[in-house]
Amino acid sequence: MKGIIFAEFLELVEDTFGLETCQKMLDENQNDGVYTAVGTYDHKDLVKLIVTLSKLTGISAEDLQQVYGKSIFKTLYNSMPGLEGKADSTFSFINSVEEYIHIEVKKLYANANPPAFKFVSETETQLIMDYLSARCMSHVCLGLIQGCAEHFNETIEINMEPMADDQSEVRFTLTTV
Ligand code: HEM
Repeated sequence: MKGIIFAEFLELVEDTFGLETCQKMLDENQNDGVYTAVGTYDHKDLVKLIVTLSKLTGISAEDLQQVYGKSIFKTLYNSMPGLEGKADSTFSFINSVEEYIHIEVKKLYANANPPAFKFVSETETQLIMDYLSARCMSHVCLGLIQGCAEHFNETIEINMEPMADDQSEVRFTLTTV
């Protein structure tokens, strides 16, 4: 997984829970906390850090993933030049993530492995799609969609329904309110 994902996570943890908690989380995982934006790292390290942070803070790993996803949306959005004006709503942006953005990510970084979205149905007010990823970060996905809706100034109700026990496939139903 790209270093930008880790660096952003560590910054959020430090800003939200303080340097001491951030350091404790790293120490418990014998992790030196050095991540360069273009480097590639094992995504399991991120899962481990989130699990430790959950123990240290008493906040569930799912909630931590969600808050993190929401906060990283802007960073990801700004990391790819030319996105401004490409989409005019949350639904059209999510379509472009699957059809363009994550494809570009894979071209840019040979070993990147973003999730896939399988679109089930779409109307003006409702989008149903399946999130597919062996990384099982559906709550990061939830947060990213929330960050995206905020970016487009839309209020969207998000419903998640696991399609596999390990959360590798989750159905998202998005409804505009
Ligand atoms: C609504 C918007 C978006 C959603 C829902 C979304 C979803 C996700 C999720 C859930 C992951 C975590 C990995 C996984 O679950 O398998 C991920 C990874 C990633 N996404 Fe997106 N994403 C969005 C927008 C973007 C944008 C705008 C960029 C801009 C470059 C981007 C670039 C990346 C990158 C670099 C990774 C890490 C891939 C890797 O290192 O293997 N995403 N995305």
